[in-house]
Amino acid sequence: MTAPYVLVLYYSRNGSTHEMARQIARGIEQGGLEARLRTVPAISSECEAVAPAIPAEGALYASLDDLKNCAALALGSPTRFGNMAAPLKYFLDGTSNLWLTGALVGKPAGVFTSTASLHGGQETTLLSMMLPLLHHGMLITGLPYSESALLETRAGGTPYGASHHAGADGKSALDEHETALCRALGLRLAKTAVLLESARG
Ligand SMILES: Cc1cc2nc3c(=O)[nH]c(=O)nc-3n(C[C@H](O)[C@H](O)[C@H](O)COP(=O)(O)O)c2cc1C
Repeated sequence: MTAPYVLVLYYSRNGSTHEMARQIARGIEQGGLEARLRTVPAISSECEAVAPAIPAEGALYASLDDLKNCAALALGSPTRFGNMAAPLKYFLDGTSNLWLTGALVGKPAGVFTSTASLHGGQETTLLSMMLPLLHHGMLITGLPYSESALLETRAGGTPYGASHHAGADGKSALDEHETALCRALGLRLAKTAVLLESARG
């Protein structure tokens, strides 16, 4: 039996969502759990059927077992027209077996996203990412306003989950509030997972 871990499952084309995933992982580790970063392949004429099993760089591709065995899940995607990116949706669409067996029921989950424009759909994306997780019976943990960064931020950060305003060129780094909220989300997921695991015995 493996030690409990929080799966940080994300897609990132240009690195912003990846940087958020790293900060969330720091929060998870602060909460005493392993953070397992996993990504999904891009969808294009080159799909997962022909892409190498191990990506040239960055996180490994997620397997269904990574998801099945996690203690909690942080799900991240760039915003694409106010919604999650297709590669992540494609991966989630392949999780019917986990749904049929109730494998994710009762596990905590949180969501995060990155956008080019400040009002370009962070919240709609975060809400849309929650929908499949609710179908799986996961327990959605947002971010509470007791996190002072949520009131002070002039960039990303929402009660629905962590977010980042990457700017038109996609190159803005996470600012202090965005970073704090990513870490807070990771810490909250880890703490909730530990509490639930101990309650289950
Ligand atoms: C097809 C497509 C659609 C996008 N739609 C939006 C959008 O609706 N709102 C927005 O602010 N940014 C949008 N963007 C920009 C990305 O969300 C933004 O650059 C994000 O930070 C990329 O994250 P990444 O660096 O992890 O790939 C879009 C980008 C692409 C390629």
